[in-house]
Parts: sequence; structure tokens; C-alpha cells
Amino acid sequence: MGQENRIPYIGQNEYGVATLYVKGEPFLMLGGELHNSASSSADFMEREVWPYVRPLGLNTVILPVAWETIEPREGCFDFTLVEQLLTQARREQVKLVLLWFGLWKNGESFYVPSWVKEDDRRFFRSCYPGGLPSDTVSSLCREAVEADRRAFVRLMQFLKEYDGEEQTVVLVQVENEIGFLKSERDFSPEAERRYGEAIPEAVGARYERSGSWQEAFGEDAPEYFMAWQYGCAVEQIASAGKAVYPLPMYVNAWLEQHPDRPGVYPSGGPVAKLIPLWQLAAPSLDLIAPDIYLPDFRGVCESYAVSGNPLFIPEARRDPVTASNAFYAFGGLNALGFSPFAVEDFLRDDLEEPEVGLLAALNIDMSGFNPTGTGVYFQRSVEVLSGLLPLIAKRRGSKEMTGFICGSPLERGCILPMDGFDLQLDYVFDGRQRPGSAGIVFAEKNGFYISGCNVRFQVLPKKGSGSHVTVVRLETGAFADGCWQPERVLNGDELREMSLGSMAETKHVRVCVSRP
Ligand code: DGJ
Repeated sequence: MGQENRIPYIGQNEYGVATLYVKGEPFLMLGGELHNSASSSADFMEREVWPYVRPLGLNTVILPVAWETIEPREGCFDFTLVEQLLTQARREQVKLVLLWFGLWKNGESFYVPSWVKEDDRRFFRSCYPGGLPSDTVSSLCREAVEADRRAFVRLMQFLKEYDGEEQTVVLVQVENEIGFLKSERDFSPEAERRYGEAIPEAVGARYERSGSWQEAFGEDAPEYFMAWQYGCAVEQIASAGKAVYPLPMYVNAWLEQHPDRPGVYPSGGPVAKLIPLWQLAAPSLDLIAPDIYLPDFRGVCESYAVSGNPLFIPEARRDPVTASNAFYAFGGLNALGFSPFAVEDFLRDDLEEPEVGLLAALNIDMSGFNPTGTGVYFQRSVEVLSGLLPLIAKRRGSKEMTGFICGSPLERGCILPMDGFDLQLDYVFDGRQRPGSAGIVFAEKNGFYISGCNVRFQVLPKKGSGSHVTVVRLETGAFADGCWQPERVLNGDELREMSLGSMAETKHVRVCVSRP
């Protein structure tokens, strides 16, 4: 098959950095995820979503496909809605990442069809201590996993037939924020039986342990047991789907956070410490992704860029800091994609306050969920990043691209070593609800481009060199298709303070180094 028709896949670029290739070309997902229920109606999408997403200028939209929609009666499949969504996305010239809301969504099973919900014998539930059933179908219920697998295979078959050529769908998420809520493990009779068994050989070999789950993992046993069961279930589903149409696939995580007890976050979900276990249980997955509503963006990303796991951020905060985090994701972390949650809200002026009850249930801090003011900043970041994507794609993993980010108000700045001089970056933080200090520096011969938000910069001679660095030229401008289009030359007063503002921008600096 020629590269141009090759199914999307994740490979490595010339610097060994994980890269999503679509039709043989690197594709960086500058994305936005939609509210959970938006894509349940094509009409609603036309009216309330596309008009607000279109002006953002994203190249990717992330939206759910629910099991209850495609298989309303057992064995009867209906892909009308999926077809409409794909048609709309093609018209909008965006790629799609599909979220398979199957057996599990946020630790529960509300997206299964009613024939699954109503038959809790055949599709038995996970239980709380004492055997009290939950709203989560058990990961040990073979019939349930088999039914999900069948439906998922039909979805992949549909995509292969309807989209194999055009390739609007480039990535598929299997389930959503998987795990078991409100208990550290499943106490159903089947789980009780399996929990007492010896750990699988592969787990024993990986962790150099033996015996029962309890013996091998002590106080962490319930969570490791759950992760293994969920991982194996996802493997069954994902591998069967890939056998039909091998699009790249991933799972996403509700992060471990205060109060960090499994069950407060979905137990067994792919939190950072469980990445190796998940990789072992579900080798068909291409990556494991964090949903980042926590303030420590850099720390969370670093905890997921381990064990060869490519970084992709399918859900991110909705406050203005998302407009600067996007730069760091691509420039500092070589992410495959970055996508804040519920982007169709960003440019609306009739927004209601996020519901406190919902956020409490999801353990999301209000600050990370409030999109007031985000729209214009994020729109500008997308505009600037869109022009930069070809350059970023070329430089991912090379020394010619560096990202920077201010992780907390206590961090004042950093100094980046350049060829023959240093670049001092001072973070600008005034506590206001604005993007943070973050960006990308592209090194050039005799200078650099700096792109991002809220930073002051100056050039310094190398320590101990006795040299002097002169700014020869400072330009504003923008990249279009990876090429620099200069606008103003900043000199005189404007040369004294070199900075990037709250609205993302790019500046070009040419320097000359005089040596003694
Ligand atoms: C994380 C989930 O993955 C999303 O589907 C959504 O529920 C958000 N939380 C919050 O609305």
C-alpha cells in the first residue's frame, strides 16, 4: 500500500519521537473535545457545536460514539449517526478522534444499551464490600466484555468501509476513564474468587513477585488486581477492533489525586504508576493518556511520558491557562496532540456556571473547569500554533526546538542555552485569570523564534566568555504553513522590552556575538 493510503499509525520520526502519521505524513492534533452528549444528535451538532468550534480553527475534534446509540437492540446495529458525524467533520475539514463509550465511562456503565442495563444477571455488576451491586458492569463479566467486543468490532468494520479511504477518523479511545468508583475493588462473587488466585505469570515476571494478589502487592493489591482485569478486558476489545481496522487506539485516565485512594478515582484505571501493568495487560493499545484538570500540567505530562508511552492529552483544563499549556505540550513534551475539554463553550457569551455537583462527583476543581475568558486566548493560540505545526513536526526531538513553562508562581524564569549565547526568560505572572507563561523557542543560525505567552526575554553572553551579544533585529510576524512572514520591525522604545503578551504571538530575534 502506498504511504498516501496507509491507515493512520503511530511510528517514530527521524529523532525517535513517537509520531502519528496520517496518509504517510506527520499529523499533530490541535484538538478540542466536546461535551459528552453533544454528538448524540447531528442536528444539535449543526446548531450548537460547529458554529462555535469552527472559528477556533482546530484541526481535530474529539467526540463520543456511544454503544447505546449504535446497538439499541442486541445484534441490530445503526451507524446513521456516526455517518452523519463523519460527513460533518469532513465538511468542516477536521479529523476525528472517536471515544468509544462502551462498557465503562468514568468508572460506571451508563452508556451501555438498555438491554445490558436491564439484564444484571447476564451482565453482572461489580459489587461494593458486602456484595452490594453497583452501576458498573464487572470487568470479570465475560458475557459483557464479549458483547462490548462485538459492538466495537462492528464500529471498526463500519469505519473501515466508510472511512478507510478518506481517513477522517485518525485515533480511537477505548472506553473512558475506566475503573471502579467508590470502592478499591470489585467484591462480586467472581471477583472474590479471582482475587484469591495466584497472580498471572506475566505480572509475576514483570514485578518479580509471586503468590496471590494480596501476597504480591500488599495494600496496593486491590488496585493492581482491578487494573489487570480492566486491562485484559480492554485488550480483548481493542485487539478485536484492530484485527478488523488497525487504527491507533488508547485509553485515558482520571488521574490519581487528593484524596488519592483508589475508588475516589476509578480503581484500576491507567493512573501513572500503573502504566507498566496496563502496557502488559493491553499490548494492543498505542498509548495511555492523562486527562489533565490538575494545575501541575508539566508534572502530570512527565509522569505519562514514561516506559515508551507516547504523550497525548485528550482532555485538558478549560481556563485560560490552556492557551499557554498548548505550546508546552507540543514544544516541550513532543505531544501527539493537545485538546481542552468542551471547546464548544469557549466562544459562547451565554455560558452558565459549571455545576458544582458535577465537579464534586468528578473531583475536578472549579478553577480548571471554568472557561470564562478562555475563548479568545485559545483561539489565538490555535492560530499561532497552526502556522507553526509544519515546523514543530520537523523539529520534534531535535535540539532546534525547546519548550518552556512556568509551573508555579514561585518559579521566576529559566535560562536556555543557545549556540554562542544564552536566552534568559522571565515569567510574567500577575495572578490574573490569563494564560500562563509558556512557549516554544526555535533555534536558528544567529538567532531564534520565540512563540507563546506571557514571557519577557533577553539575550546574555555565555558565562565566562567575555563576549557581548547585540540584538541585530527584532521582528513581529507569524508563521504560515511553517514559513515566517515578518510584519513590524521593533526598534527604539520597542526594542527595550522584548516580550510576548497574554495573546499568543511569535517574535523573531537575530543576534550577533562579538568576541574579545
Ligand atoms: C472527564 C471525562 O472523561 C469526560 O467525559 C467528562 O465527564 C469530564 N470529565 C467532565 O465533564
